[in-house]
Amino acid sequence: MIYLDSNATTAMLPEAVEAMLPWLRVNHANPSGTYRTSKLARTAIEEARGHVAALIGADAGEIVFTGTGTESVNMALHTLDELTGEGTAVVSAIEHSAVLRFVESGKRDVKQVSVHADGRLDLSAFRAACEGAAYVSVMAANNETGVIQPLAEAIGIAREFGLPVHTDAIQAVGKIDVDVRRDRIDLLSLSAHKFHGPKGVGALYVRSGLDFSPLLQGGGQESGRRSGTENVAGIVAMGEAARWASLALENGAAERIRDMRDAFEQMVMEGVSGCVRNGDPAFRLPNTSHLSFESCDAAGLLILLDEAGVACSAGSACMSGKRKPSHVQLAMGIPEARSKSSLRVSFSRLNTPDEAERAAAITIAAVGKLRRVQGNGIGPVAIYTA
Ligand SMILES: Cc1ncc(COP(=O)(O)O)c(C=O)c1O
Repeated sequence: MIYLDSNATTAMLPEAVEAMLPWLRVNHANPSGTYRTSKLARTAIEEARGHVAALIGADAGEIVFTGTGTESVNMALHTLDELTGEGTAVVSAIEHSAVLRFVESGKRDVKQVSVHADGRLDLSAFRAACEGAAYVSVMAANNETGVIQPLAEAIGIAREFGLPVHTDAIQAVGKIDVDVRRDRIDLLSLSAHKFHGPKGVGALYVRSGLDFSPLLQGGGQESGRRSGTENVAGIVAMGEAARWASLALENGAAERIRDMRDAFEQMVMEGVSGCVRNGDPAFRLPNTSHLSFESCDAAGLLILLDEAGVACSAGSACMSGKRKPSHVQLAMGIPEARSKSSLRVSFSRLNTPDEAERAAAITIAAVGKLRRVQGNGIGPVAIYTA
């Protein structure tokens, strides 16, 4: 199987698996204990905290471990809800549901800021929305299209209004350089399984000096910011994945991934008529390709690709299976037919150039086959009779 769905989740790095095993097999101690094995667990957590902090340019004390990226986002928005005065919550229209559902379920009015057709935040609309706002949340890169947002500019504007900023950097961390100091971020969410760590462990960066209101109350772990006995094995593996991600970025992994993605895209776009790329071609994650295929239903295409051994997604993982166009593509003004014919292909550094080439050939063949059997609107079900 050629795995090209790394924006949904990544394969765990063997080194991260190895790192977690002793904390499952040998040392099960509670890191809050007073005995030697507890202290070893505590030390391992603190080492992991250092690696995660280094990946985003933070200090170790600014990292809070959580149970998922979703929890990190909810914690960040909860604290902003609690600690800011009156005003609206300003978010981009293309945020992940972790952000959108949270703000929609709260008591504040919410302003969703539009994006341009290229998928990037409309900064003048954003500036207008900041008037009368309490806080803002803008993602670093979109999970569906991979489009990198003008975060530094948005934060500059938010600062003019004195607004605190959360950024959902869950798709950006480990793929591009993320630096909380350079971008003057207050709160930043990340998730281990998006950069070859385990699922079910995330982290929240909380800028030193920022007031914090915990979402989970209890035993006071994580300096009172996130109660609950720590997932030692998961945290250690996240730290190891972060350490390798930092090294990979330093050693040009992003460029190698971009080369693979670009080779795939070029082959497919040259080999298939009526194929368009969605999103800003320059400002996007190096691993993500978002393509629409005229007269081609993405649901049928995914089945054919799966049969031929390629795993990828239609839109975001959360949306696949649902038959409505994604809110991201709607916000970009992509027409419904084009939206329903779009594929998200997302690489990682564990892929090879050979896989990119084979996947492109398989995609070209699958599009051709689907167009033949789908014919004049017969629909994707017909592929089974082909
Ligand atoms: C941009 C973004 N935010 C939040 C999440 C949720 O992260 P998690 O799956 O770790 O809860 C995801 C996962 O798909 C994501 O891509």
